[in-house]
Amino acid sequence: MSSRDAVPEWINPLRDERDKRLPRIAGPCSVVIFGVTGDLARKKLLPAVYDLASRGLLPPGFGLVGFGRRDWSHEDFAAEALKSIRDHARTPFREHVWEQLCSGMRFVNSSFGDADGYQRLTETLAELDSSRGTAGNHAFYLSIPPSAFPVVLEQLCGSGLANGTGSQWRRVIIEKPFGHDLASAKELNKIVNNVFGEDSVFRIDHYLGKETVQNILALRFANQLFDPLLNAHYVDHVQITMAEDIGLGGRAGYYDGIGAARDVIQNHLIQLLAMIAMEEPVSFSSREVRTEKVKVLSATKLVQPLDETTARGQYSAGWQGAEPVVGLLEEAGFSPESTTETYAAITVDVQTRRWAGVPFFLRTGKRLGRRVTEVAVVFKRAPHLPFDATMTEDLGQNALVIRVQPDEGVTMRFGSKVPGSSMEVRDVNMDFNYGEAFTESSPEAYERLILDVLLGFPSWFPINEEVELSWEILDPVLERWAADGKPEAYESGGWGPESANEMLRRTGREWRRP
Ligand code: BG6
Repeated sequence: MSSRDAVPEWINPLRDERDKRLPRIAGPCSVVIFGVTGDLARKKLLPAVYDLASRGLLPPGFGLVGFGRRDWSHEDFAAEALKSIRDHARTPFREHVWEQLCSGMRFVNSSFGDADGYQRLTETLAELDSSRGTAGNHAFYLSIPPSAFPVVLEQLCGSGLANGTGSQWRRVIIEKPFGHDLASAKELNKIVNNVFGEDSVFRIDHYLGKETVQNILALRFANQLFDPLLNAHYVDHVQITMAEDIGLGGRAGYYDGIGAARDVIQNHLIQLLAMIAMEEPVSFSSREVRTEKVKVLSATKLVQPLDETTARGQYSAGWQGAEPVVGLLEEAGFSPESTTETYAAITVDVQTRRWAGVPFFLRTGKRLGRRVTEVAVVFKRAPHLPFDATMTEDLGQNALVIRVQPDEGVTMRFGSKVPGSSMEVRDVNMDFNYGEAFTESSPEAYERLILDVLLGFPSWFPINEEVELSWEILDPVLERWAADGKPEAYESGGWGPESANEMLRRTGREWRRP
């Protein structure tokens, strides 16, 4: 572990070797949320902060500051926060937890570019330091459009807020999108790193905070059973799927012109690929985990030709469950000429000794048949089957499926003898389900990640190099699509455009129907 990954010393007295699940509790600090009136803050961030408080993982004097243009008093901010907590928190509402949290809540009314506002923020944080003991440790959460990053960073720098003195820490949390392509990501990283050292930058990819995603490393590196088989000798291909049934109503402002590849493949799916394909890190310290991720992403290349190995689509009208739904072009706020893709699929090859020649198929889409995210490792067929051919007609390929959500768990698919007098073999599933195996419920991704920021534990946050490598992988596809005109329409409620099926069929394979 590097020194910055070490568990803070003051936690140590709580450590009890007999109970490995003892919580990690954040030290004295506060969080400032920029963009606190936005959807993300309302639905995820404020509830996650409450859930951390409710689990006793925040210090008693924790400070929470909202920064925004609304003409709110501290009490107005608290009232809004209370509403979103009541609507969206994971843990039950408890008055004393709320009272404690609420007493440390402040609101600073300012536009992002107003130096006076940052002066008032400085005073507010100093007041929290003295009244709540937040000790000059402050995290700045930028839940704002990327266009506002430069001005906020500049002001944080100019006001002196970006730098603590002595042992105080200052950290910045950045929400995606991390740029629009490689060039803009580099530019953004430069702007951020001019103000905060990379050690103090926490880029959120909330998929890395999911229990089932972190479990990929446990599955691979805590067991002897799986990882020895994860290589080109045994694996035929890997399918990484993130399917959503929701549409884009209400999200035109963010999504039009962005599309599925930038929204999901560049970050969540490429991170899932890194987790399943990376080599074993020396430890789970941020340096070691990120070193392995950077290595595997550097080796990841698009399979050519892109016309045959990628696919994109745009949902048209159809059904979501029993409800008729409109197509993207009829959704409010989208241009009727929009060429934004709502489905994207790519094929990559990880050019390492372990994986070379094993295609990784990545796909994501809106308004598909069902919400499901999974990583499916599909194995080659056994080299020889000593059975009468008719006995194995229903035998498919073995598969190891990591079910990220919503039905969290792991499935192994393999052939088994059908009970009876003949030697017929058929596929069966062996399942592990979180709900059945554990009594503990999983924290929300944002809960875990916000706590990691406060603890100074950056392993599950992509560094600038990972972000740039992900764009490097994706950029040629985006350029090709930009030159190609309209994406293919696919019906809402189905499984995406025909070109995506064709993309796999060409290789002699098929998408899984989760
Ligand atoms: C976000 C994307 O990052 O992830 C959204 O911007 C998507 O478009 C969301 O809906 C999905 O997150 P989850 O955790 O519900 O799978």
